[in-house]
Amino acid sequence: MGRAPDGDAPTGLTPSALAEVPGRPLSLYVHVPYCASRCGYCDFNTYTAAELGSAPGTGQQAYLEGVRAEIGQAAAVLGSGRPQVSSVFFGGGTPTLLPVAELVGVLGALREKFAFADTCEVTTEANPETLSREYLAALHDGGFTRLSLGMQSAAPHVLATLERRHTPGRVADAVRWAREAGFASVSLDLIYGTPGESMDDWRTSLQAALACEPDHISAYALIVEEGTRFATRLRRGELLAPDDDDLADKYLVTEAALTGAGLGWYEVSNWARPGHECQHNLAYWRGDHWWGFGPGAHSHVGGVRWWNVAHPRAYSEALADGRSPALAQETLTPTDRHVEAVLLETRLADGLPLAALSDSERARVAGFVERGLVSLTGERLRLTVDGRLLADAVVRDLLD
Ligand SMILES: C[S@@+](CC[C@H](N)C(=O)[O-])C[C@H]1O[C@@H](n2cnc3c(N)ncnc32)[C@H](O)[C@@H]1O
Ligand code: SF4
Repeated sequence: MGRAPDGDAPTGLTPSALAEVPGRPLSLYVHVPYCASRCGYCDFNTYTAAELGSAPGTGQQAYLEGVRAEIGQAAAVLGSGRPQVSSVFFGGGTPTLLPVAELVGVLGALREKFAFADTCEVTTEANPETLSREYLAALHDGGFTRLSLGMQSAAPHVLATLERRHTPGRVADAVRWAREAGFASVSLDLIYGTPGESMDDWRTSLQAALACEPDHISAYALIVEEGTRFATRLRRGELLAPDDDDLADKYLVTEAALTGAGLGWYEVSNWARPGHECQHNLAYWRGDHWWGFGPGAHSHVGGVRWWNVAHPRAYSEALADGRSPALAQETLTPTDRHVEAVLLETRLADGLPLAALSDSERARVAGFVERGLVSLTGERLRLTVDGRLLADAVVRDLLD
């Protein structure tokens, strides 16, 4: 939270951070930094083959060896007191650009070093155009339990503006193949507010998504990130910036459509059938512990956060030399941890316990209730639907 990094790459976790390990749930994240092409809106840490070239240390084998080495480092650092793993998430980038045997192999390497809880959720993100029946069957047989598909839109012109490579029909095929393979939990990612997207386009996307009968939908308002092609095109006047009123209207339409189809909201941008809430994302939002493997991946243990070098070459070179791939770390103060808890937990349908607030913050709650932005039930503060539209402002005004 706005803290300057401590500066040095982590040489290990402090004894007080490590003391928290046995008592908190542990999640694992694997970052796969490859994409076939870069979508114009995306600022994630990902690279195309052309960007990486053929220099040593940039290939998939070097990356995979690096991840395996980092898994060994993590097990050694967290020690024998590490708890069972509650969730694993392969994200990207495009994890499914890797051969399925490699993804399953990395999962196997994690299992060798970490005990998985019986209920452990194992998700991979996937781009619809990278999947086949055979790929999905092998993923499921290899231990993946949940699939998160980047659908984004069902309107061909919106997909074109977003620079996506799949056709709308491909998503329904991929969901059908996932079900045939045995996936009991399938999620779709959608983006609303793309320049040129009408309300009808968005309704069509929601209906197309619901027609796939997913268990979970994430719907994100388009963010124009600095440094992306979208930001450049916006400055040149080639694209219109997302409009706040349009985004709010689309959020309300989303809430009505998804709730009407039996998917309840459990975080401002996430809806699920009961029992299909993403355990991995909940772990982030609740401030649990996670280790992120791979280039640019972030980790958090006991109030210490660190992040790896971003470039795949620097990542694999560090690990090949037996060094930590961490670039820098920061230690959260009690105030940082408080701000983060309020920021993240307020966004959850479960809400924030009033006891988590300071006296002066609690004194402000009545004002939000009067304005219809939050409700109070069972000593917890929960955002109303109007409050969800203004979640960031509510949190900002609530905090000391
Ligand atoms: C980084 S992607 C990785 C998954 C996969 N490569 C894909 O694109 O489907 C994860 C999700 O973040 C969302 N996302 C990425 N950039 C975004 C942006 N600028 N604004 C809103 N959502 C964004 C998209 O919905 C995407 O599915
Ligand atoms: S496919 Fe996903 S990760 Fe890759 S550039 Fe597009 S949004 Fe980003």
